[in-house]
Amino acid sequence: MKKRVAILPGDGIGPEVSRATVAVLREVAPKHDLQLEMHECLAGGTSIEENGQPLQDDVLEICKRADAVFLGAVGGPQWDTLPKEKRPEIALLQLRKQLDLFINLRPIKVLDCLLSTSPLKPEVIAGSDILIVRELTGGLYFGEPKYCRREGPQEVAVDTMRYCSTEIERIARAAFEASRHRRKRVTSVDKANILATSQLWRKTVERVALDYPEVELEHMLVDNCAMQLVKNPKQFDVILTENMFGDILSDEASLLTGSLGMLPSASLGTSGGLYEPVHGSAPDIAGTNLANPIAAISSVAMMFRHTFHLEKAALTIESAIMKTLAAGFRCQDLPGPGTQILGTEEMTAAILEQIATGS
Ligand code: IPM
Ligand code: MG
Repeated sequence: MKKRVAILPGDGIGPEVSRATVAVLREVAPKHDLQLEMHECLAGGTSIEENGQPLQDDVLEICKRADAVFLGAVGGPQWDTLPKEKRPEIALLQLRKQLDLFINLRPIKVLDCLLSTSPLKPEVIAGSDILIVRELTGGLYFGEPKYCRREGPQEVAVDTMRYCSTEIERIARAAFEASRHRRKRVTSVDKANILATSQLWRKTVERVALDYPEVELEHMLVDNCAMQLVKNPKQFDVILTENMFGDILSDEASLLTGSLGMLPSASLGTSGGLYEPVHGSAPDIAGTNLANPIAAISSVAMMFRHTFHLEKAALTIESAIMKTLAAGFRCQDLPGPGTQILGTEEMTAAILEQIATGS
């Protein structure tokens, strides 16, 4: 089997974690008869510096033709004052929209060996295993009109939250399908007591649920969900939610695992896939070999699972990560008694070693 992967290292710690990604792809692919053609391209702030644009047309074309895209991270303080359409984050939003990647999967699984690393109590988080299914191409991120302009004596800014039933239906289906391979429980998160989009969301999700009688559906308001995630995270199996709520809740939920540096993601549509660690570009530690590569390496596991359909390869990578952590190795974002702190490269090497012995 031959597949094409576009690698977009991006900004900040993006290039460092992307090196870990490439190393893992090179190690695992040949063992599963997978021949990979990798293209490295510029995106985000580094592309702005080089070409004046966060995502060039030819890079977008390469990503469209690729079977999978890996993106390290985009953004940094030096680009924060640029107008919004020129910011590094636009690269990511364009990729999501242009590739029609409307499903964003963010799995959060609490590992026993990291129980004491989370700022939350071990007895609260032990055994938590949540999949956030975030709608990724609609809502406030993309709705029109969207502007900031002067109106008389003051400036006025508008973002638009817009959803149509087709958009809600397809993401709801993705969540119900995912839950069938899990504990068959979907919590749909909205703000239906206030927002019209949420009322349509709830109605549409209920209609889709009729096709999945074996899956239990519950609705939860987003403010309550934010609280329940830290109060009793074990109650959740699949959380289905719109774009902005999913962005906020997934950062919150990442803390169950101890650090945002652990959280992988897959963005999927009808074809292709974009894989990225959920952490940002962390400019404060960029270039210092301090970044945790586990979110990136877990994202590679998701690439093997969702794009290459090589579940065994995905499990090999995930079990290598678990064994490395169980052996007491950590990055600086997860300190704890009796652990040994490794840099990005050393952590990658330790995981590669486990992959080599485990497969
Ligand atoms: C994420 C990020 C992005 C988002 C930013 C970088 C545009 O926070 O993937 O969660 O808001 O979707
Ligand atoms: Mg986010």
